This record gives sequence, structure tokens and C-alpha cells, in this order.
Amino acid sequence: MKFFIDTANVEAIKKAYKVGILSGVTTNPSLVAKEGVKFEERIEEILQAVPSVESVSAEVTPDAVTAEEMIAQANELIKINNYDKNITIKLPMTLEGLEACRYLADKGVKTNVTLIFTVNQALLAARAGATYVSPFLGRLDDISEDGVQLVSKVAELFRIHNLDAQIIAASVRHPDHVTRVAMAGAHIATVPFAVIEQIAKHPLTDQGIAKFAADWKGSSR
Ligand code: E4P
Repeated sequence: MKFFIDTANVEAIKKAYKVGILSGVTTNPSLVAKEGVKFEERIEEILQAVPSVESVSAEVTPDAVTAEEMIAQANELIKINNYDKNITIKLPMTLEGLEACRYLADKGVKTNVTLIFTVNQALLAARAGATYVSPFLGRLDDISEDGVQLVSKVAELFRIHNLDAQIIAASVRHPDHVTRVAMAGAHIATVPFAVIEQIAKHPLTDQGIAKFAADWKGSSR
């Protein structure tokens, strides 16, 4: 399973990129709004910060409702990346979003269909040519459903029918989500930087480092 970072904060993106574990970035209108910056400018900054990742998801804004409006926005976003391949147009899971997805996929543009909450939605997105589909596990857990189970079922469905779309486990809230979606067959987990920090840590690792340091200091060498 690959890691994407789920944020529009450039400092967090740079930190994760430097560690060398990052394959992509996802953003959404809420994450960009939190930064208080201009959307297109932030996408450009992100693209410059992570030149070698496979995908940077830029989501069409909520005022693009029809497929035509989404495609028009996508065409502007693609220009920011100078038509390079790593910009990915993130589209909502609606019939209009699917129509835009099919259009863009046929033009060779990467797409990420977002806000997926059922297996059927994932199947539709894959059939519309989505490069990535994003089931939101945390938000399902929030309403007492099982987000990891959704990821597991989508992975099984894609295996059975040889569908190429990659599953991005999204709305990942804690380390256990990461382990469980990796075991469930997600191709990618998109995670906040705080979760990357959490999964890198273990108290026994810290204790071990402290003990090595203490023993090293006390030895005669
Ligand atoms: C993914 O692409 C979304 O940006 C994100 O994972 C949503 O997470 P949330 O449910 O924690 O807002």
C-alpha cells in the first residue's frame, strides 16, 4: 500500500516528502479553505513541492455542479501543471461527476472520484474510467458503519472483475485504520501528517533508542 498525504498545508507536505514515503497528495475544498489561500495558487505550490509523486488531487470546487462546469474547471487546473501527468482531477461521486470523469479519462487525464460510501458507487466510478476511487472510511465509522469493511469489499470487487482503478482509502483518522486498510487491499491510504507521525512511533522504539544512548555513553569504548 502506498501513502498519499491528505492536506493542503505545504509545510506538512514538504516534511512527508522529505521522509521519502510519499506517492501523492490529496486535497479537498475544506482542506484548502482551512489554509485561507487561493485554491489555484496552493495547487501550484503543492505541485512544485512534490515533483516526483504519481498524483496530486485537485478537487473541482463545490460551485461546479454540471459535468460541463467540472470539465471547464479541470481544464484550468490542468494548465497549472503545464499539462504534466501528476495532477489528478478530483470529482464528486454524482452522475455529473461520473460524466466529467469519463470525458477526462478519455482525454488521458487522471481522475479521483471522491465521497464514495458504497461498493456500487465504487463500481460506477471504476466503470467511468476513474484512475482512483476514494471510499471515506472515517465518515462511515462516524455513523456507526464499518469503513474498513467497505474498502475490503471494493478491493475484492475490483479483483473479481479485473478493474484497474486504484483504491485510495480516505478519511483515515488513526493508525489502526492504516493497518486495517493495508490488510484489506487498499492500494493507497491518504492520511493526515499527524497520522504519519503516529505510525512512525512506538514507545519501545523510543525506550530502545534511550537505552542504546545511555549504554553507549557509559561504555569505555
Ligand atoms: C480524501 O480525499 C479526503 O480529502 C479526506 O480523506 C477526508 O477526510 P475527513 O473525513 O477526515 O474530512
